Amino acid sequence: MTARIVSFESSHFAECERILAALPDWFGIPESNEDYLRNLTALPSWVALRNESVVGAITLETHSPRSHEVYFMAVAPSDHRQGVGSALLGHLESEARSQGGGWLHVKTLGPSNPDPYYARTRAFYLAQGFEPLFESPSIWGPENPTLVLLKRV
Ligand SMILES: CC(C)(COP(=O)(O)OP(=O)(O)OC[C@H]1O[C@@H](n2cnc3c(N)ncnc32)[C@H](O)[C@@H]1OP(=O)(O)O)[C@@H](O)C(=O)NCCC(=O)NCCS
Repeated sequence: MTARIVSFESSHFAECERILAALPDWFGIPESNEDYLRNLTALPSWVALRNESVVGAITLETHSPRSHEVYFMAVAPSDHRQGVGSALLGHLESEARSQGGGWLHVKTLGPSNPDPYYARTRAFYLAQGFEPLFESPSIWGPENPTLVLLKRV
């Protein structure tokens, strides 16, 4: 069943919180999780609904009229590999295009860290047409080498 993408509303908050809690292999830093949850309200965000339940969420941060970032993205583990992430990202890309397009970027854990979970995340972004730009030890610290990926929108 395809997911329906709608704007985030405060009534979705608890379900988003549960999705984050169900993904400890990706979201293990409590302070960062608090920022992601707070920014669901503060920044433009959308959720994916299946049978009226929230199964995923995405947040857009626009840095300048032609520079847009996937600030946060998560899909419930039971719904992985069913097109929900692609649907959320496609919606965010349309929004970025409607704001003038330009570049869409995302930061994630880089390949010099052997974490198998983030290897899956990178496979997702590569499948969506993002290209790796550079890996940096200075954004999140040397223990979390940060890969910046870029896509034209
Ligand atoms: C990354 C994430 C959002 C992808 O969501 P999803 O709904 O599973 O993705 P989709 O089903 O739309 O996948 C689209 C394509 O991406 C690629 N892909 C997705 N997950 C993959 C995996 N685990 N391994 C390899 N390729 C993968 C595949 O090409 C897939 O197409 P296919 O299933 O037809 O082969 C989801 O796995 C997730 O929530 N991960 C944990 C949190 C996270 O990584 N957030 C981003 C932090 S920067």
